[in-house]
Amino acid sequence: MLDFVKIFAPASVANVSCGFDSIGFAVDNMGDEMTFLKTSKKGITIKNITGAQGLSLDPSKNVAGIVALAMLREYSVDFGIEITMNKGFSPGSGLGSSAASSAGAAFGVNQLLNKPFSNLELTKFAMLGEKIACGAPIADNVAAVIFGGFILIRSYEPLDVIKLPVPKDLRLVAIHPQIEIKTKDAREVLPDQIPLSIAVKQWANVGGLISGLYTKDYKLISNSLIDEIVEPKRKHFIPYFDLVKEEAINAGALGAGISGSGPTIFSLCEGDSIVENVYKAIKKAYKNKNVDFRLFSSKINTEGIKILEAKT
Ligand code: HSE
Repeated sequence: MLDFVKIFAPASVANVSCGFDSIGFAVDNMGDEMTFLKTSKKGITIKNITGAQGLSLDPSKNVAGIVALAMLREYSVDFGIEITMNKGFSPGSGLGSSAASSAGAAFGVNQLLNKPFSNLELTKFAMLGEKIACGAPIADNVAAVIFGGFILIRSYEPLDVIKLPVPKDLRLVAIHPQIEIKTKDAREVLPDQIPLSIAVKQWANVGGLISGLYTKDYKLISNSLIDEIVEPKRKHFIPYFDLVKEEAINAGALGAGISGSGPTIFSLCEGDSIVENVYKAIKKAYKNKNVDFRLFSSKINTEGIKILEAKT
């Protein structure tokens, strides 16, 4: 039985153009570190949070605390758990900050409980955190964090998560303009209904994207990275979105779109030399625009949350 565990919970890109609320993938080199320590004092304590401002230490008001409390309600133990969090990227970035905390909490607590819960059950617990943070119990970020790689939420009720393959040369270049978009606000601009002709295009692209991932067909992935529904409504929140997308694609990216609810813009590339070109092109597009930004590239994380240290 573990008494202590330190984990890395990755950032994630949700939606991936055509797959609103249903497709996501985990980022390899950006994320949060969290520790979980067994204590004689029962219940959940959040000892400290570094790397981000304004997050509550009250477990009933913090997504990680909410998830951890729900798990202890379902699986009672005679010890408590003390959590620390070091946020590696900011909330409101579109890179699944609340998802990393929620999924990280689900995973870390499960380790100290001796792993009674499956990955699917951990995803359901983590969705409780997303419900608070995003106004809806969305699973595309948290499932990517827990399962790693690309995931498809085939169904929400009952929850069904499909882990998809990751073609080995697939890479991410992403720019995070330093503004904050709240997922709740970004969901309010979405239509309740869509014309059938638009829905047909969207689900055909979802099929194309998934087929492209399975067959490592980069051209098909590229052709399928189109969002007919959500991107047109949300892109106005993001400074120079169209310019970045156009420059990334001109520089060889397979496609580009809004990461989650933004403002981060993701682009997917085949291979490291394209990554270099796309990185330079995006940097140039944002130069002298008076918007601070963080630009980074990454492999796709295929294993999800990683254990960095464990003590019995
Ligand atoms: N799929 C969710 C949305 C992700 O786009 O609203 C939130 O980051």
